[in-house]
Amino acid sequence: MTSSQDFADLSGNAAAGLSEWERFGVDTSAPHSARVYDYWLGGKTNFPPDRAMGRAIEEAVPSVKAMAKENRAFQGRAVRHLAEQQGIRQFLDLGTGIPTSPNTHEIAEAASPGTRVVYVDNDPIVLAHARALMVSTPASRTTYIHQDLGKPDELLADPALTSTLDLGRPVGLLMIAVLMLVADEADPWGKVAALRDALPSGSCLALTHPTQDFDPESVAKVAEAARAGGMTLVPRTRDEVARFFDGWELIEPGVAPVMAWRPDGEPPADPHAAYYWGGVARKP
Ligand SMILES: C[S@@+](CC[C@H](N)C(=O)[O-])C[C@H]1O[C@@H](n2cnc3c(N)ncnc32)[C@H](O)[C@@H]1O
Repeated sequence: MTSSQDFADLSGNAAAGLSEWERFGVDTSAPHSARVYDYWLGGKTNFPPDRAMGRAIEEAVPSVKAMAKENRAFQGRAVRHLAEQQGIRQFLDLGTGIPTSPNTHEIAEAASPGTRVVYVDNDPIVLAHARALMVSTPASRTTYIHQDLGKPDELLADPALTSTLDLGRPVGLLMIAVLMLVADEADPWGKVAALRDALPSGSCLALTHPTQDFDPESVAKVAEAARAGGMTLVPRTRDEVARFFDGWELIEPGVAPVMAWRPDGEPPADPHAAYYWGGVARKP
């Protein structure tokens, strides 16, 4: 398997030539979700097909970049809530994405020193940047695992995970803007349920998911643009998103538009301006 060490010369090097990326298994000829999202967030790890897809989606939904930032803002509030209010000291961040500060370990560490974080993604380009995620204080620890969330048993048995997280103690499971990349046929609900069953009582789930509920016509165009570019992108309704929380106890306000989930300061004038549902829950 490719290790993050193999990428030492590429990590953080936006100037690396395309062929160098390809040598490490990064297919730069087609758009990929991590890099399209990086483009929207203003990052530098994206290639012409990613930017073309990003712009095609932006044509259907002009505020998509602001929405990506609202999704990240939810992640920040949810991680802080888990660390400060739910006593979570270890996190499993599935579908990490290309590092974008503040990353989970930075938020958790600021809220509660000594936190442990395992990052997981299946895109080699995220692996290439893993070293940026593995910077922690002496008291804390972060690890990166190159793995598919579709294999929860393998993931939970991975020595890098078991040597970082104590699976006898509550874990904060993060699935932020990732499950829309898993088709219904691959049973994303079953994968979340398998992780729920394997984690101890008191563990928490924080999840966001894009939806067609607030603007069906534009989001249908987004899904069509993704399909045309060969990307799986499945927006889901509130009921479909709520099913990910089966067997968990939702924390107030439940499944809500991300902008309306415990906003810092004044509630937003239009919480439906970002087309994502989000929620946080605790395993009884
Ligand atoms: C849109 S990005 C979201 C990144 C980050 N969670 C956030 O919200 O800012 C989705 C990430 O999930 C990863 N991903 C997609 N399918 C995955 C899978 N089956 N297993 C692991 N990671 C996956 C992609 O490579 C990408 O980095």
